Amino acid sequence: MKAMAIVPGTGGSRMIERPEPAITQPDEVKLRVLDVGVCGTDREELAGGRAQAPDGQRELVIGHEMLGQVVGTGSAVARVQVGDFAVFTVRRGCGRCASCAMGRSDMCQTGAYRERGIKGLDGYQAEYVVDRERYAVRAPAALASIGVLVEPLSIVEKALDEALRLQVVRRPDAATEPDWLVGRRCLVAGLGPVGLLGAMVLALRGAEVYGLDVVDAESARPRWLSVVGGRYIDGREVPADRVQAAVGPMEMIIEAAGVAALEFNLLDALALNGVYVLTGVPGGSRPLTIPGAQLVRQLVLGNQVMLGSVNAARGHFQMAVDDLERAGARWDGHVQRLITRYPVAQF
Ligand code: BGC
Repeated sequence: MKAMAIVPGTGGSRMIERPEPAITQPDEVKLRVLDVGVCGTDREELAGGRAQAPDGQRELVIGHEMLGQVVGTGSAVARVQVGDFAVFTVRRGCGRCASCAMGRSDMCQTGAYRERGIKGLDGYQAEYVVDRERYAVRAPAALASIGVLVEPLSIVEKALDEALRLQVVRRPDAATEPDWLVGRRCLVAGLGPVGLLGAMVLALRGAEVYGLDVVDAESARPRWLSVVGGRYIDGREVPADRVQAAVGPMEMIIEAAGVAALEFNLLDALALNGVYVLTGVPGGSRPLTIPGAQLVRQLVLGNQVMLGSVNAARGHFQMAVDDLERAGARWDGHVQRLITRYPVAQF
């Protein structure tokens, strides 16, 4: 079968031939790959950045955002059947720590985890893939054309889940209001797929959503944002340190830009007792000058949380499936417009 591979540490990608994987264990699931997303991590890998081939291999098959259709199951598989749509999660546990043993390799404590298409395991840019049932999440037929967004949305679900849980523990008002997000001013920074999906989920939960980027208000991403009810802030006109004065303080910020300077500047937009989750992974090693004492003073005196969040557990994938289905029904046809399709031949 055909697969798309890189040699970690070098630039570019190539189409290679690989043997078609087969089911060898009773708990395995085989998928025919339908769609694979390309995200910032893939672009970093293609540019020679962070990526690791499986042991004893020079090449790494890339791709970690996927949608497939079940074409085979081992005798013990109960969660999916042939014909179902499904996605595989990304991370595989280290086999040594408590988090991984509990199915929460997204919180691995040793760092010795592997990730399909990124770190030590081949990914999903291939015609067929096989993995264990516990890593498969079923997607309803309604997600046939948008299910490839489940993985990026799982990142948002984890970030939001962590932020909300923290607020429930810390804030008396959040602990007593089940719909705490309703009407709360929330900011998403960086309107790539993760940012836009973040805006979508916050809108589904009833928040007052703002999205910050540095593109023209009339361009595709701000327009997509406005359809889900988000208001666009052009960061060239209203930089991060002026957002609070222009729009008001943000109760929650989800950062998905991966620009280190912006990641710090956004603290200026955060409300008292607010929570700020970073999901973007900045590249490069250019040093950055920040007013350290002032930032720490603000965090402490403002009861603020700044939190890094990566990867997602199976439960977050399930939340993503459920929210995508709700979003697909609420904004009919709109979610699909997040996706630009390229045939494999144009890899
Ligand atoms: C993926 C995560 C992964 C992270 C770090 C992201 O692009 O969505 O699943 O954990 O990269 O490798």
